[in-house]
Amino acid sequence: MKSRLTPIVIHGCRGELDFYYLYSALMKYFIKTFGCQMNKADSERIVAVLEQAGFQNCSENETDLLIINVCSVRERAVARVYSLVSKWQKKKKIILTGCLLEKDEKKLQNQTQFINIKNIASLPQIIKNKKQAINKKQKIKNKKSYLNIKPHHSDNFQAYIPIMNGCNNFCAYCVVPYTRGREISRLSEKIITEVKGLIKEGYKEITLLGQNVNSYCGKIKDQPSSPEPQVEGKSKVKMKNQNSKINFAELLQIIDAIPGKFWIRFVTSHPKDMSNELIKTVASCNKVCGYIHLPIQSGDDEVLKKMNRKYTVAKYLSLIAKIKKTIPNVSLSTDIIVGFPGETRKQFQNTVKIMQKINYDMAYIARYSPRPQTAAAKLPDNISNQEKKRRYTILNKLLQKTALKNNQKLVGREIEVLVENCKEGFCFGKTRGFKTVKFQSKKNHTGQFVMIKIIKANPWGLLGKINPAVK
Ligand code: SAH
Ligand code: SF4
Ligand code: F3S
Repeated sequence: MKSRLTPIVIHGCRGELDFYYLYSALMKYFIKTFGCQMNKADSERIVAVLEQAGFQNCSENETDLLIINVCSVRERAVARVYSLVSKWQKKKKIILTGCLLEKDEKKLQNQTQFINIKNIASLPQIIKNKKQAINKKQKIKNKKSYLNIKPHHSDNFQAYIPIMNGCNNFCAYCVVPYTRGREISRLSEKIITEVKGLIKEGYKEITLLGQNVNSYCGKIKDQPSSPEPQVEGKSKVKMKNQNSKINFAELLQIIDAIPGKFWIRFVTSHPKDMSNELIKTVASCNKVCGYIHLPIQSGDDEVLKKMNRKYTVAKYLSLIAKIKKTIPNVSLSTDIIVGFPGETRKQFQNTVKIMQKINYDMAYIARYSPRPQTAAAKLPDNISNQEKKRRYTILNKLLQKTALKNNQKLVGREIEVLVENCKEGFCFGKTRGFKTVKFQSKKNHTGQFVMIKIIKANPWGLLGKINPAVK
């Protein structure tokens, strides 16, 4: 490719301007994203930075520059990164970002360059200067949160909005606190402005993201703290001023009050931070969908303790009871790990019992995968793969039953659906309860809310009919 000297203007966070002179202004790039919605949302910010710097998206085969947004939550996800690197190392420049453990960063440092996601605004500079990777320990040059980079959304009616980053919980099996660092909540002002902008552009669904979304505690504005107001006598009174913080329930209430027709979702909630105020807020806010993803991980108190989850089965069950009572027609999903070190058959049976009791609509079941640096990595991974698979299959079959039972209750009802895509005469969308609905239509309803009469239920979805007037 012919190099040229082109002035490129990059709008950094908060509209500041940085000037870069980029050689090879038409450099191509391809991003491979692994992991959860958080990584997907981060990739939308990477795309924004690259496109503003004049890079062009292309296919994996064509690209000169391969960016891999890594997930380390399970060994398998990391293995896929290693195989991609070994496939392309001689042919492409490879940049790694996202959730990468130091051990893997070191192993891959000769073939790749690592850039901490928090420094992603500097990506074009790094590519241009062939700078050494900015690693986790180096000070971030741009102190403003990378989350304030305006993302290049991959969709025009559904958007993921990170409201916080990192995690303080240190569950014994989990790498996230090591790869993403401590929990930081975004300024609520920034989040609200972002949502307002998207609603103005016609977005129909906003999903608020965080590793532990319900422990959100964000300042309203970025202002130095002023002394708290004093009242007569000894006591101090806390008032909601610009310096004070708001919690997740309050954030939801503010977003719910934004005018327009749209849905609000959020993931992931930790049981220990599920307040009564939040449950009531979900019930009372019209735009907030009645769908709660509340990972239980295990149905056994001893295992929960070893996992450092900070709640008991009884506490979790009382939360579920409160949620079901307060939020009518709520959909419930969870995450479960089978085969955690030392999990006995009896302890696993306790998880089975809990699943039977709760009747989840969905469950993301994972076989335990030991992760370096975590507390559980010191425990022997003594449940065989075969046994983990057996436990996984039992829970999956159980889930099929409970999900089907719940879905059958919807047959005959007319339900609002946000259509996600249409092809070959069929449309697919989601209900407020995050259930997939399929219906026949000659029109393309993508990005629209439609009323669908449910005619059949399957464990993993619903079949419906659109009102012939809109068909
Ligand atoms: N913050 C969320 C989950 C983030 S990770 C929460 O607290 O629930 C997403 C899911 O991956 C976890 O809920 C867990 O079920 C699974 N997971 C995390 N580490 C794992 C490991 N080492 N082995 C198997 N599954 C794991
Ligand atoms: Fe991992 Fe636990 Fe934090 Fe979730 S709450 S990201 S499982 S450490
Ligand atoms: Fe994976 Fe990081 Fe998400 S480890 S699950 S991409 S927070």
